[in-house]
Amino acid sequence: MSTTTTDSATTAPVFSVEGLWKVFGPKADSVPADPELAALPPAELRARTGCTAAVQDVSFDVRKGEVFVVMGLSGSGKSTLVRCLTRLIEPTAGTIVIDGEDVRAMDKSRLRELRRHRAAMVFQHFGLLPHRTVLDNVAYGLEIQGMGKAERRERARKVVEKVGLEGMEQRRPGQLSGGQQQRVGLARALAVDPEVLLFDEPFSALDPLIRRDMQEEVVRMHREEGRTMVFITHDLSEALKLGDRIALMRDGRVVQLGTPEEIVGSPADDYVREFVRDVPREQVMTVRTAMRAGDCEGPEHPGAIAADAVVAEAIKVVSRSRKPACVVEDGRCLGVVDHERLLDVVAGTELRKEAV
Ligand SMILES: Nc1ncnc2c1ncn2[C@@H]1O[C@H](COP(=O)(O)OP(=O)(O)O)[C@@H](O)[C@H]1O
Ligand SMILES: [Mg+2]
Repeated sequence: MSTTTTDSATTAPVFSVEGLWKVFGPKADSVPADPELAALPPAELRARTGCTAAVQDVSFDVRKGEVFVVMGLSGSGKSTLVRCLTRLIEPTAGTIVIDGEDVRAMDKSRLRELRRHRAAMVFQHFGLLPHRTVLDNVAYGLEIQGMGKAERRERARKVVEKVGLEGMEQRRPGQLSGGQQQRVGLARALAVDPEVLLFDEPFSALDPLIRRDMQEEVVRMHREEGRTMVFITHDLSEALKLGDRIALMRDGRVVQLGTPEEIVGSPADDYVREFVRDVPREQVMTVRTAMRAGDCEGPEHPGAIAADAVVAEAIKVVSRSRKPACVVEDGRCLGVVDHERLLDVVAGTELRKEAV
């Protein structure tokens, strides 16, 4: 388990995906190989070849310790993409590398090892064994790894506690609420202490409040354990809340890959712009974007605010003090924010002004 947060941009990625394709249908291999077919819009490709290109020429790195979110509407190719990472679905073309090792070249036993130890999956529909207790469901992954009964139960007990299910060890899945069942699913994936957790819309079926609890669980695992996660969702607010970076998919392609702030603040095209139109910008955009050059009163000044703070926090500071606030990073002043700059960011007019 990694416990330190490394400078993720400079360390080798966990997953590295390059030119990945998954085509369903007859003669699927010929689609990525033929530039003309590869460029067709999905409906035309289907009409001409009977094939569905669920994932088309997708490339990205998942950095150590980050939450990498794949977001897109239903049918955009998210599940296919995440299943390709461990070859639960066989890719049609492209490369997938985990920690320097070529996933597409792995033999059966190496793949098994990948799925059991290194990249554990949490599914939307929990995938629990109905006749087993909570404890034995959580211990299941350890059992198939061949760990002895006493040891795996001991380990499972700790993880059950960690996800807040203490006291429920002897229940069966049918005796649990949806939220509790998903905690069991999460605990089962965590029990094997995988390098990376893969989530396929794990919280979509949960009630809003329980869903929020689970999201906070993910944030906590990220913060406290530095666990690397690939998180699939169709929910924009979930993506913005959890993602260090987000890959936004449309029709099998990644239309934009960036931080929440980049996606909301600089949408790559009209599709993305429309997608993020109703996002409360003050919750996503940072003070760094809002600031201007100006004289600071020093980093210790009561009105100082961190460059990475969101605009909503700066609004509170500025409205309380009725003065511009210093923007601080590493004990240095970078600039100031005033109410006008902050309002511009909320309204989305800051970029237009800069262009003048
Ligand atoms: N086994 C399959 N055979 C044929 N088409 C499939 C198969 N699985 C998924 N698809 C198609 O691939 C596209 C992407 O599906 P999927 O990855 O499930 O999207 P998402 O998870 O974003 O909802 C959809 O058009 C879907 O119908
Ligand atoms: Mg899906």
